[in-house]
Amino acid sequence: AKTQHHEFVVQATPVKRLCKTHNTITVNGQFPGPTLEANNGDTLVVKVTNKARYNVTIHWHGIRQFRTGWADGPEFVTQCPIRPGGSYTYRFTIEGQEGTLWWHAHSSWLRATVYGALIIRPREGDSYPFTKPKRETPILLGEWWDSNPIDVLRQSIRTGAAPNVSDAYTINGQPGDLYNCSSKDTVIVPIDSGETNLLRVINSALNQPLFFKIANHKLTVVGADASYTKPFTTSVLMLSPGQTTDVLITGDQPPSHYYIAARAYVSTQNAPFDNTTTTAILEYKSAPCPSKKGVSIKPVMPTLPAFNDTATVTAFSKSFKSLNKVVVPTEIDENLFFTIGLGLNNCPKNFRSRRCQGPNGTRFTSSMNNVSFVFPNNLSILQAYKQGIPGVFTTDFPANPPLKFDYTGNVSRSLFQPVRGTKCYKLRYGSRVQIVLQDTSIVTPENHPIHLHGYDFYIIAEGFGNFNPNTDTKKFNLVDPPMRNTVAVPTNGWAVIRFIADNPGAWIMHCHLDVHISWGLAMVFLVDNGVGEMQTIEPPPADLPIC
Ligand code: C2O
Repeated sequence: AKTQHHEFVVQATPVKRLCKTHNTITVNGQFPGPTLEANNGDTLVVKVTNKARYNVTIHWHGIRQFRTGWADGPEFVTQCPIRPGGSYTYRFTIEGQEGTLWWHAHSSWLRATVYGALIIRPREGDSYPFTKPKRETPILLGEWWDSNPIDVLRQSIRTGAAPNVSDAYTINGQPGDLYNCSSKDTVIVPIDSGETNLLRVINSALNQPLFFKIANHKLTVVGADASYTKPFTTSVLMLSPGQTTDVLITGDQPPSHYYIAARAYVSTQNAPFDNTTTTAILEYKSAPCPSKKGVSIKPVMPTLPAFNDTATVTAFSKSFKSLNKVVVPTEIDENLFFTIGLGLNNCPKNFRSRRCQGPNGTRFTSSMNNVSFVFPNNLSILQAYKQGIPGVFTTDFPANPPLKFDYTGNVSRSLFQPVRGTKCYKLRYGSRVQIVLQDTSIVTPENHPIHLHGYDFYIIAEGFGNFNPNTDTKKFNLVDPPMRNTVAVPTNGWAVIRFIADNPGAWIMHCHLDVHISWGLAMVFLVDNGVGEMQTIEPPPADLPIC
């Protein structure tokens, strides 16, 4: 294993998309940002210097950060932000994870443009559990706004309304040739007849679950969230923000051009969304003379599922099984039940824009177990926890909901108005944790991608309607459930996850739709140290930003 050193400079860079040039926050002037390539076992040392005018932090999405919680990155959870002009060096080791992860800003909505791939190959000398592909291509799905994404968020907070949807979806930062002024920059993914290409697909979009398909080609899924899966073949993927999926494609079609396309999966009712399609082109090297001047050969377009095709999402999600033998905890010490959903708060009397512009003069909010998470602004939770500084958070997160009700429609009005707070939940080191995640369907049923920092977890069951502890436990897969870091909880349904709390620190769990985290759909686990040195969080680095 080796130690790699990288420098990330966060800075404003002119970027032209959809016919207009904007000053965009990037890393090293690149959009998307640099791809990090590592082997399992490597240590990464990344010095981040902030030359932008916003506070920033970087999160290494899916990296377990075993005993190195100070390098996790979420603003005011494990560190204070890196102020303009400041810098911080993230240092962590990749232990046991292989496949595709990514990194992104974890501050306001900066991750709209501050993100990149993090590729983890097997340990040197080890091989993939599938035939070595001829090529590998990272595919980052994203969203592009014509205006500054930070302003889009601010506008929504100022008015209480839902934020504007994006103006385009993107593949590797490019909208593709179905959008204005985009065709000459359309991303080309090469393939040769008979060869196999490993596509590392990442949904780095801010707020949008996406379907993904390649015309006429089968996709063989071999991994997700840097864990290997039993291979299965599908024509379409669905990724929620935060999720990654590794797929093999083989050049088994007539040499030509085929569209790679992604479009919205919309699990909510009556939600505004961008009904456009982003494209890249799969190009056979022996294809008849391609995109040369004057020659226009239209690539073949795949038929994507309808925007609200939940049945396809369910079938896809059920196909995931762990490749390797897994050890799921069979006994549990913490049996938790978390509701997740939106809410509508009354408009405060002195509201800045005088009248809230959410439904019926309310403003949108969201919550877990009826608590809308408020980030501290004077210290990080991890610092306060380790140094015993009071007044930053409380530990009274209600780990079982205050009220039970029918989550599929008969909604208590009181749950439209969650309470606000910086509420954490303490876990003893080594405890075996089960969490039932239940969509409340308040305001609207919706598929929420719930992401846990500091751990991978097993998804042992998913279903629709209300979770029933008497009958649904019979559906638990304790044999070969997939291991992930982000679970797309079915709309109008539930998912059950299990993990062992063997990583001391302060770990946020949140919805990876950024609009929902901005509205409070988050909570934080505090995991204490165990007994030995290897069960103890390392001391904070000397350059940890202070508030
Ligand atoms: Cu990828 Cu807390 O996020």
